[in-house]
Amino acid sequence: MSARVAGPDDWPEVAALRHRVFVLEQGVPPELEADAADASAVHALARDDAGTVVAVGRLVERDGRAVVGRMAADRSVRGRGHGAAVLGVLHAEAAGRGFTEVELHAQLTARRFYERAGYEAVGEPYLEAGIEHVTMRRRLV
Ligand SMILES: CC(C)(COP(=O)(O)OP(=O)(O)OC[C@H]1O[C@@H](n2cnc3c(N)ncnc32)[C@H](O)[C@@H]1OP(=O)(O)O)[C@@H](O)C(=O)NCCC(=O)NCCS
Repeated sequence: MSARVAGPDDWPEVAALRHRVFVLEQGVPPELEADAADASAVHALARDDAGTVVAVGRLVERDGRAVVGRMAADRSVRGRGHGAAVLGVLHAEAAGRGFTEVELHAQLTARRFYERAGYEAVGEPYLEAGIEHVTMRRRLV
């Protein structure tokens, strides 16, 4: 397993995994799933031993904050650490840009995943793209 920052050549595989997870599996409208922030975001990915992209995520700067989003692992390999590896790359990228904290909008079903990675919920849950979310934050050391 290896996770790293994605380059332009990786984009078709990154987009394909996100489409499978968010659009096909979760029913998020494709026009919401792929947005303008993708162009300036730092994307990270993990590949399995065969070289297949199995987990992805992105880091964007929004209102002066480092915001993690679009975390997705292929359904067939969940629970094997790929998502956590991608998150680690995004944390390092945020720290390298001078941020001391990262924020994200977690789907409630993924809340434990982010808590395992050191995030804490802030405030009450709300609906986003028809799915219940909660804002979470984590300090970067
Ligand atoms: C959330 C997601 C990206 C996690 O990726 P993953 O590769 O399965 O996660 P990992 O294997 O790295 O898990 C790391 C830890 O979190 C735990 N974990 C992962 N997903 C979890 C979940 N949904 N509920 C509870 N715990 C979870 C794992 O058990 C593991 O715990 P450990 O540290 O004790 O071993 C993946 O489940 C996914 O793509 N879900 C569908 C899309 C989604 O909901 N994305 C999040 C949008 S906010």
